[in-house]
Amino acid sequence: MTIAKLSLRDKDYELPVTEGSEGEVAIDIGKLRKESGAVTLDSGYGNTGSCESAITFINGENGILRYRGYPIEQLAETTRFTEVCHLLIYGDLPTEAKYEEFGRKLTYHSLIHEDMKKFFEGYAITAHPMAILSSMVSVLSSYYPAAQSEEDVDMNIIRLLAKAKTIAAFSFKKSIGQPFVYPQNDLSYTQNFLHMMFAVPAEPYEVPEVLDDALNLLLVLHADHEQNCSTSTVRMVGSSEANLFASISAGINALWGPLHGGANQKVIEMLQRIQDDGGNYKKYVNLAKDKTSDFRLMGFGHRVYKNYDPRAKILKTAADRVLEELGVNDPLLDIAKHLEEVALEDDYFVSRRLYPNVDFYSGLIYRAMGIPTNMFTVMFALGRLPGWIAHWKEMREDPSSRIHRPRQVYIGKTERDVQPMSER
Ligand code: SDX
Repeated sequence: MTIAKLSLRDKDYELPVTEGSEGEVAIDIGKLRKESGAVTLDSGYGNTGSCESAITFINGENGILRYRGYPIEQLAETTRFTEVCHLLIYGDLPTEAKYEEFGRKLTYHSLIHEDMKKFFEGYAITAHPMAILSSMVSVLSSYYPAAQSEEDVDMNIIRLLAKAKTIAAFSFKKSIGQPFVYPQNDLSYTQNFLHMMFAVPAEPYEVPEVLDDALNLLLVLHADHEQNCSTSTVRMVGSSEANLFASISAGINALWGPLHGGANQKVIEMLQRIQDDGGNYKKYVNLAKDKTSDFRLMGFGHRVYKNYDPRAKILKTAADRVLEELGVNDPLLDIAKHLEEVALEDDYFVSRRLYPNVDFYSGLIYRAMGIPTNMFTVMFALGRLPGWIAHWKEMREDPSSRIHRPRQVYIGKTERDVQPMSER
């Protein structure tokens, strides 16, 4: 057993060291407070492992991302999103028979209870679709009680995966005042979502293959990313034994922030701002370096990747291909490429190892597909669903898992007596 030694206040402590299957080394501080009275402090958890997990591996130094051991580049090239859902949640890519059965269940559970449609009447027309998605996912727990058995859990997993895309599409239709389009049982998962988004009752709509393939790629690339902010939130909430829907709803809200999944919407708004300002992208690269400004190059930088985010690399190529196939000539793509070019040669970004992340190019593809900017983070959430579910399930099944309850270092007032108001 490898150990780490700690000297603290003239006492020496030995801490066990664990090593992951990819050689990652961790100092187990599980007994630190009990033995030394001290806790560790790690703002933003940048150096703290919250769990051991077998779902996703990231090597930030070398830009590596694998789901259950499979490189993201291969999965992006060769798999359908529902295969990746099965891989992340159940541990392996499905056989043909399992794939058919899994897909059939997802199809037949796509409808939401008719009573749930009433909630849409209450949302303001301007309601952000992330607010709708997180609240409607939480409401699912009032229709499908917390699972007791593993088959109940599996059924709720199917319901969540199947219904979240319907809720998302309905929120889009609500925002443009069009009638809801119901899921069709003869369509695949991705075709069904696009059909619910873009079909109108007045005329038949066949989902273009280029849109279907683009959506599939985007969902596969977003499917999991180990202990990011929203996934850690799902684990935190789930650790209290909150039900699946409540835990995922919390993850949706964490993803919404502009520093996390909300960045894809902010990237487009940033590119639009640069275009409106005459396309002077160098001005904005300089602004991002200026500490007196609160401007950041959205879609750039990452807590883990200190190299090019492999997903961004795939999406950059896909953006060119999809926009060309759709016949879309978007000046914002040129601005994005110029921004990347200038930033990657600038010492401020190079010295901080800031590269484009998954959000930098994804929005340009969503935009070309006709998905509105305020739906971009919902698209991220639909992709991340299997990852969140897989981590919630892995934690539930881990016998060593317990409620998450970090410690703190108190820096407030020491003890003092309450004074009568007249003397305060
Ligand atoms: C996602 O964790 C995940 O895995 C997330 C995700 C996933 O799949 O789940 O990959 C998805 O959330 C991608 C990130 C999307 N967010 C953005 O694009 C927002 C812009 N990026 C930054 O805000 C930032 O890079 C973060 C939030 C992504 C990471 O923040 P960190 O790790 O806390 O880094 P930091 O803020 O401490 O930055 C280190 C330095 C600072 O400068 P100094 O104090 O050293 O002088 O880099 C600077 C920062 O000011 N910096 C930036 C910058 N990002 C970091 N400067 C300008 N523009 C930026 N985008």
